[in-house]
Amino acid sequence: MHDIPPLRLGLNIDHVATIRNARGGNSPDPVRAALMAIEAGVDGITAHLREDRRHIRDDDMARLSLEIAKPLNFEMAATEEMKAIALRVKPHAVCLVPEKREERTTEGGLDIVGQHNVLAPYIAELSQAGVRVSLFIEADVAPIEMAKKLGAPVIELHTGSYCEALAHGDRIKADRELARLDTGAALAGRLGLEVHAGHGLDFYSAEQLAKLPEIRELNIGHFIIGEAIFVGLPIAISQMREAMKRGRALARPRS
Ligand code: PXP
Repeated sequence: MHDIPPLRLGLNIDHVATIRNARGGNSPDPVRAALMAIEAGVDGITAHLREDRRHIRDDDMARLSLEIAKPLNFEMAATEEMKAIALRVKPHAVCLVPEKREERTTEGGLDIVGQHNVLAPYIAELSQAGVRVSLFIEADVAPIEMAKKLGAPVIELHTGSYCEALAHGDRIKADRELARLDTGAALAGRLGLEVHAGHGLDFYSAEQLAKLPEIRELNIGHFIIGEAIFVGLPIAISQMREAMKRGRALARPRS
């Protein structure tokens, strides 16, 4: 037996709220989706309260924190407004993500190198309140080392460029992006950071990411919610679990 930690699946329920908001009523309810997903075996629920409230709303966050029995991962921009909400809701974890152009790197992760003066006290305040802070960053040396310096216990590697390359059938770029994620995960592991990954994942890409031994959690939304339209949420989740299990079985410790 080799010593590879288990891989968790977090379901992002934003797009249940997107569908609800298209009609302005209460259905479909993202909290109902969260409860059903937990029943179907996900390890946590992720929801992104955007500044423009385009999908998840404040009352969704409040209800999620009261009603779900698994960890809630609150994705948010690093603003004063969101910090106040996080300190009130006290989710298990907060994942800081970019929302505005100037907050993101060219690839799309949070520009923590450029914003470190602002982020250091921000992360410290959330950590002191008992909230685990994760930073959604590119799998590059500078942001990973900066995440460590900033005292964030967790990073979430942005898998968007990899998934986009796969979607465009660009094998060369996809291989390059997967190698970048692999190198980044290894570096973060050496630095003692907990590594998560997400954005744009489907069955195939989740299976490939599951092979990277440092990755402890995948956060997946759009693809699973899309699959749920055809097969139902519990089956979509169990198929994703199978894909992750196939990949994890091939994960090996770094030599
Ligand atoms: N992780 C983070 C930090 C995200 O911002 C998102 C998108 O909201 C996801 C994961 C999930 O991405 P997707 O919906 O493409 O699976």
